[in-house]
Amino acid sequence: MSFRQYLAEQQALADAALERVVPPVSQSPETIHKAMRYSLFAGGKRVRPILCMEACRTVGRRVEGVEIAACTLELIHTYSLIHDDLPALDNDDLRRGRPTNHVVFGEAMAILAGDSLLTLAFQALAQLRSADAATRCALIEELAVAAGTVEGMIAGQVRDIEGEKAEPTAERLDAIHRAKTGALLKGSVRMGAIYGGAMPEELAALDAYGEAIGLAFQIVDDVLDVEQSSEQLGKTAGKDAAQNKITFPAVYGLDASKRMAEEQLTKAHAALEMFGDRAARLRQLADRIVHRDT
Ligand code: IPE
Ligand code: IPE
Ligand code: MG
Ligand code: MG
Ligand code: MG
Repeated sequence: MSFRQYLAEQQALADAALERVVPPVSQSPETIHKAMRYSLFAGGKRVRPILCMEACRTVGRRVEGVEIAACTLELIHTYSLIHDDLPALDNDDLRRGRPTNHVVFGEAMAILAGDSLLTLAFQALAQLRSADAATRCALIEELAVAAGTVEGMIAGQVRDIEGEKAEPTAERLDAIHRAKTGALLKGSVRMGAIYGGAMPEELAALDAYGEAIGLAFQIVDDVLDVEQSSEQLGKTAGKDAAQNKITFPAVYGLDASKRMAEEQLTKAHAALEMFGDRAARLRQLADRIVHRDT
């Protein structure tokens, strides 16, 4: 199967799992379910669930039912995008090629839609029928830590916002990016590994892979913000400079940023060595994360 076909198939798996987990629009109160679904089913790349499912297969001791665990990462990610776009944060009006959630549903409903996706993620993990109680608990812990305030996603978002008025240093940049985006991507890989029954050395290898692609992902996001159009990205381009964000291009310039993303890609590949051919798709996913244009 070509990588392109593989990606389409994996996106469909993630979408089907989300469809099962998220209440239908007909469920009262309809507005909130409409708002949640509006942002969820707007054509995201589904990178996090796909990484989770593939890490699980790479380990391979248990695979069945991983789609539901994987889709909880997309719930958290989409909540973070809805809130990231709010006027109080990045104040964006375009996301996934559509007007942002608060533009369509109003700020109050957008805040609640984000809250709802966040809450639903943990409900879905707690209700996961395909995993034993210890695994469910471990997955809940991984997701909470990855999304949290101690080197997790919120830690990064706080540093990102405070960084708008701070000196753009290399240390600050690294701390923002590893947390705001890296933590959830690494968590995606780790959750897949845990679901798949990883041995400690397998989990450590996949953790290193997740760390590298997590940082690379946000370096490329920063580069694309400079080099691509809003139309291509489906979100407003050129926002980072306009909002004085601490980014890789701002600190190192575009060429060095691209080289640094390649360095992380090399690290990601090296981390997968012990898996041999079993990690072929994880290698391709890393390549795509670094060489993507959206
Ligand atoms: C965008 O994430 C926000 C970041 C964390 C950089 P993605 O590039 O994965 O966005 P979607 O899910 O494809 O819309
Ligand atoms: C967003 O970073 C990270 C999270 C949403 C946690 P950005 O602010 O760079 O994301 P985009 O560029 O708006 O997608
Ligand atoms: Mg932001
Ligand atoms: Mg933003
Ligand atoms: Mg960005």
